[in-house]
Amino acid sequence: MESPSWASYAAAWLATLALLLLSRHLRRRKANLPPGPKPWPIIGNLNLIGSLPHRSIHELSKKYGPIMHLRFGSFPVVVGSSVEMAKAFLKTHDVAFANRPKIAAGKYTTYNYSDITWSPYGPYWRQARRMCLLELFSAKRLESYEYIRREEMNALLRGLYESSANVVTLKDHLSTVSLNVISRMVLGKKYTDESEVSIVSPEEFKKMLDELFLLSGVLNIGDSIPWIDFLDLQGYIKRMKALSKKFDRFLEHVLDEHIAKKKDGKDDAAKDMVDVLLDLADDPTLDVKLERHGVKAFTQDLIAGGTESSAVTVEWAISELLRKPEIFKKATEELDTVIGRDRWVEEKDIVNLPFINAIAKETMRLHPVAPMLVPRLAREDCNIEGYDILKGTRVLVNVWTIGRDPKLWDNPDEFCPERFIGKDIDVKGHDYELLPFGAGRRMCPGYSLGLKVIQSSLANLLHGFTWKLPGNMEKEDLDMDEIFGLSTPKKIPLDAVVEPRLPQHVYSV
Ligand code: HEM
Repeated sequence: MESPSWASYAAAWLATLALLLLSRHLRRRKANLPPGPKPWPIIGNLNLIGSLPHRSIHELSKKYGPIMHLRFGSFPVVVGSSVEMAKAFLKTHDVAFANRPKIAAGKYTTYNYSDITWSPYGPYWRQARRMCLLELFSAKRLESYEYIRREEMNALLRGLYESSANVVTLKDHLSTVSLNVISRMVLGKKYTDESEVSIVSPEEFKKMLDELFLLSGVLNIGDSIPWIDFLDLQGYIKRMKALSKKFDRFLEHVLDEHIAKKKDGKDDAAKDMVDVLLDLADDPTLDVKLERHGVKAFTQDLIAGGTESSAVTVEWAISELLRKPEIFKKATEELDTVIGRDRWVEEKDIVNLPFINAIAKETMRLHPVAPMLVPRLAREDCNIEGYDILKGTRVLVNVWTIGRDPKLWDNPDEFCPERFIGKDIDVKGHDYELLPFGAGRRMCPGYSLGLKVIQSSLANLLHGFTWKLPGNMEKEDLDMDEIFGLSTPKKIPLDAVVEPRLPQHVYSV
C-alpha cells in the first residue's frame, strides 16, 4: 500500500485546525456574553479607553450595566462594577478567576512572572501566599518590626518640623518614610541611605519605584494586539527592560550581601524578610523550589507594594482635608481628647481613633490605590448572572465605580468621613462596597502593614501640624486630578505649608 503523501498529512492537519477554530468560533457565538459596546476589528473597544481607563470604563458601565463585556484588541475583558459582581468574581467564583493575565509588565519587570503579583495561579503562587501568611506578614513578625516604623515615623515628623513655615512637597516626605520602613523590614537596612556607599541614591530609587508602578498599570498596546507587540509603539517595553536591569543590579547586590552575612553566621537574631526568603530558598522540603530569581522577584514585590501605596493614600487624605477645614478640626479634636497634646500617636492608639479611621476609609473609597484592582484571568468557563464568561477572559473589578455607587453611598462624590461612624464596614475584604485591598485569594497580602502605615502617618500628620495651602492658593484651586498606573497618585503633587501645633518638647523625639 502506498504511504500517505505529505499533502494528505497537511490536508488532514488543516482540516483539524479549521474544525478547532470553527468550534471555538461557534462556542463564542453561542455564548451569552454580557452587554457591551460593539468592538472594531483589530482594536476592539480600545478606542473608547482614554488616559484614565477607570474613568472611561466607569462611563461605559453607566450605559451597559454592572457586568460589561469589552474587547481590548483581540482579548475579551469583563468588567464588574457593583457589589454583587465584586462578590461573584472575588468570592463565589474566586477560584475560577484567581489567575493573572500574562502581560508584558509581569514578563519584563518581574523575572518572567516569578513574583507574587503576576505569577499564575498554581503551586508556585500558592506557596508564595503561604510564605506571606506564615512568615513574612505574620502578626508576630509585623509586631517585631514596630520599632522600625516608630523610628521612621519620628524621622518624618522631625523632618516636617524642621521645614515649618516652608512649602513642603508632602509626597516626597511620605515616600521617604515608607521606603525607609519597608527597606529596613525587607532588606534589613536603608540600602539607599546617602551615607551608605550606596548602589543607588534614594531619589533614583524612588524614581525606579514610580516607573515600576506606572509600567505595571499602563495599557500596553502589545498586550491587547500581540502581533504588533514587537513594534513597541508606546515605547513601554523598552522602558520595562531598562528598568528591570536597574532593579536587578540592586537586588543582586542585596542578595550577595545577605548571603555573605549568612555565611559569617552574623546577626541571626534580627532577621529581615530577605533572610527569611533565603532560608526558604535553602529549604529542601518546599513543594516548589524557590530560585534566586524568585527571591529577587518577591523582594521587589514587597518593596514596591509597601512603598508607593501608603504614600499615595496619605497624600490624597491630606489633599481632601485641605479642602474641608471642618473635618480637619474634628480630627484634631479627637486627637487632643484621646491622645492629648504631650505625645505622638502610637499604633496601639489607632483603635481608639474612630474619626481618623473613618478619614482613612473615606480616602480609600474615593481614591483606591488600584481603581480596578490588579487584573484577573478566567481559568475556566463560568456563568455569572446568566452570562457566559469564557476561559481566558480578563476580569476587572472596578472598585472606583463601586466607591461612587449612589445606591450604596449618599452624596457619593462628597468627601465625608462621618458616613463610616457607627458603621461596621472595614477594608479587609469582607465588605464588598469598600475593597481598596481587593478580596479573595488574590487579595493584598500586605494589607495589615499598609493599613498600619497609613493610619499612623495620617494620625500623626494631623496631630502634630496645622496645614495650609501655599501663598494665596484657595482650597477651590487645589488640583484633584490623578494619573493612572498600577497605583493612581495625584497628577500634581501636593505642596503645603506646615506649622507645629504641639508643645516644642514633643518634637525633639
Ligand atoms: C496602602 C497599602 C496597599 C494597598 C492599597 C494595596 C492594594 C493592593 C491591591 C488592590 C491588590 C490586588 C488585589 C486583587 O487583585 O484582588 C494588591 C495585591 C498585592 N499587594 Fe498590596 N496594597 C498595599 C500594600 C501592600 C504592601 C505593604 C505589600 C507588601 C509589602 C503589598 C504587596 C502586594 C502583593 C504581593 C500583591 C499581589 C497578591 C497576589 O497576586 O497574590 N501590598 N495590593
